[in-house]
Amino acid sequence: MKVTVVGAGAVGASCAEYIAMKNFAAEVVLLDIKEGYAEGKAMDLMQTSSLNGFDTMITGSTNDYSKTANSEVAVITSGIPRKPGMTREELIGINAGIVKEVSSNLIKHSPNVIIIVVSNPMDTMTYLVHKSTGLPKNRIIGMGGALDSARFKYRLAEAIGCPTSDVDGMVIGGHSDVGMVPLIEKATRNSVNVSEFLSSERMQQIVEDTKVGGATLTKLLGTSAWYAPGAAVSELVKAIALDSQKMFPCSALLEGEYGLNDLSIGVPCILGKNGIERIVEVSLSDAEKAKMQESAEGVKKTNGLLEVNA
Ligand code: LAC
Repeated sequence: MKVTVVGAGAVGASCAEYIAMKNFAAEVVLLDIKEGYAEGKAMDLMQTSSLNGFDTMITGSTNDYSKTANSEVAVITSGIPRKPGMTREELIGINAGIVKEVSSNLIKHSPNVIIIVVSNPMDTMTYLVHKSTGLPKNRIIGMGGALDSARFKYRLAEAIGCPTSDVDGMVIGGHSDVGMVPLIEKATRNSVNVSEFLSSERMQQIVEDTKVGGATLTKLLGTSAWYAPGAAVSELVKAIALDSQKMFPCSALLEGEYGLNDLSIGVPCILGKNGIERIVEVSLSDAEKAKMQESAEGVKKTNGLLEVNA
């Protein structure tokens, strides 16, 4: 499989690194607008191949999309990241233009590509790619839920005092500080509900900590996080490459699912060689439904800020 990662900043480079380390892709093209930057990152990463034992070929390109030709998957990380105190929504003005241009360039050279959107505000950028490219909806995937769920599992394991491999849980809804819906009522430790291990106050705290997971890191790092976003992307790409039919919450275009229409928002999706093979409609409690509804209203409000010339 050939994968393109647009944006060789921290998130993009981390995506390329984890994809290579997992050794399922033949080729990763890293592309950036900054002269020589992607080439430098690609060379540095390639010099880890004999040390880390991967065969993936990583190359860099300064904005030459012909190098990305016939990619099966492309990841868009371009745009500006959050600074401390900023919401993801505040990035829309600059990032919308960039994401639109990048997706159109990608499709010119890879008409069958599956696009994974990482740039923020992610749900709105995913919706913008739908509106501006007209690609089939299974081929446009927003990466947020896989990351937010990993952060949720980290918080659950931390609170219980167990390894993350013991816990399972999922975050649906918008990828925003207020919009995330961690499904705490459904979270388990080895199939036992987490409420058997945690007080309701502690569970509420986990929900709140998960929702501000990105903002907490932005405050500590001075910019947006990259390891977990990169790892989350690499898992989505791997599921597509291996046609694994694995389920991840992803931002998908909804047409009636969960009673919602005309927006991209985090819902459980089965991923395989066609991208989103299926959206799974899990049964939600009344409280979860209400949160999902509220989250969708927030995403639609942000979508309203787009000037879409579809
Ligand atoms: C974060 C960015 C990728 O949550 O949105 O870290």
